[in-house]
Amino acid sequence: MKAALCRRYGAPETVVIEDLPRPRPGSGEVLIAVAAAGLTSGDARIRAAQAPKGMGPLIRLAFGLTGPRHPVLGREYAGRVVETGADAGRFAPGDAVFGITDGLRLGAHAEYLVVKESGLILPRPDNLDEIHAAAFFFGGLTAADFLIDQCALQPGERLLIVGATGAVGSAALQLARHIGAEVTALTSGANLALARDLGADVALDYRSGPVLGQYDVILDVPGLLPGAMAQLAPGGRLGLVTADLRGMLAAMLHPRRSGGRRLCAGIVKETPQAMNRLLAYFHAGAYRPVIGGEFPLQEIAVAHAIAASGHKCGNLVITLAQDRASVEQDLRSCQP
Ligand SMILES: NC(=O)c1ccc[n+]([C@@H]2O[C@H](COP(=O)([O-])OP(=O)(O)OC[C@H]3O[C@@H](n4cnc5c(N)ncnc54)[C@H](OP(=O)(O)O)[C@@H]3O)[C@@H](O)[C@H]2O)c1
Repeated sequence: MKAALCRRYGAPETVVIEDLPRPRPGSGEVLIAVAAAGLTSGDARIRAAQAPKGMGPLIRLAFGLTGPRHPVLGREYAGRVVETGADAGRFAPGDAVFGITDGLRLGAHAEYLVVKESGLILPRPDNLDEIHAAAFFFGGLTAADFLIDQCALQPGERLLIVGATGAVGSAALQLARHIGAEVTALTSGANLALARDLGADVALDYRSGPVLGQYDVILDVPGLLPGAMAQLAPGGRLGLVTADLRGMLAAMLHPRRSGGRRLCAGIVKETPQAMNRLLAYFHAGAYRPVIGGEFPLQEIAVAHAIAASGHKCGNLVITLAQDRASVEQDLRSCQP
């Protein structure tokens, strides 16, 4: 199979396409022919071993010292089950699925992927195509975790979203509109119209001077709003999606501030419950991932460069084009 490999941390060009043996599913696992895979800011961080201040060593500790232990990156995917391992009965060959690879295992930027069937995988609904399914979870789960679970956003509250049209921000905008918050979106001038389309009541250009006013909740996606805590109303919550080590520790050890204000930061919880909640928002018409670009596997380095820029619009998707005849052959040979 074709796969994108990153053997050493570095620039986008360190990712190269190679032929690898197709993996085989073990006990409780399924083999998926990947049709599309998300390429996220998280993938770009792992590829470059770049993280907010103080967090860099954690990437190397988690993924490998000089390069990723599992050189095929990528966590979000959509595709079809083509083979099931022993004791795997939740899915059958031919089933359309989408999900996230477990924890530190990665591997979605390849034509075939093995995952645990008890892991973060769901049947793909008919009304969700493979491109949108491949970009469904990264931004959506992060937005829901911060807005709903951590910041407890309420109807009618004043919300400021910093970075409102990237993967996380574009999902947060849609969810906030559904919840009934009054949303101010902060983006570059080029993305003001998109922010309004996604539901912002007010859209502001971050290059046009400081943001004024007070907010009940501020969701700072890139962690770039100076003095954000001071712009919270009494009882307000600051969701710091990109936090350095200091910010993480402050949120953990000293979250409560004067006037009942609160600092929220941390790693997003990925669970089947959180995935199903996001899917329920999709079915309610409240969430649909924004697609900012599609790239064939051969152009994955271009997508990595955009994902690393900090100015990505929505989500990027890598498309895989396995030899269709061989997928059909796999499926035929698996029929009971
Ligand atoms: N805590 C967690 O578990 C967790 C989970 C997921 C993601 N994250 C972090 O969240 C961050 C963003 O993720 P993403 O995928 O949404 O990124 P993204 O798609 O690249 O979007 C970044 C956004 O930030 C905006 N932006 C850039 N510079 C800005 C500035 N000076 N002021 C205000 N806004 C600015 C961009 O706007 P323009 O494009 O208009 O310039 C864009 O909307 C990453 O650092 C990622 O590591 C954390």
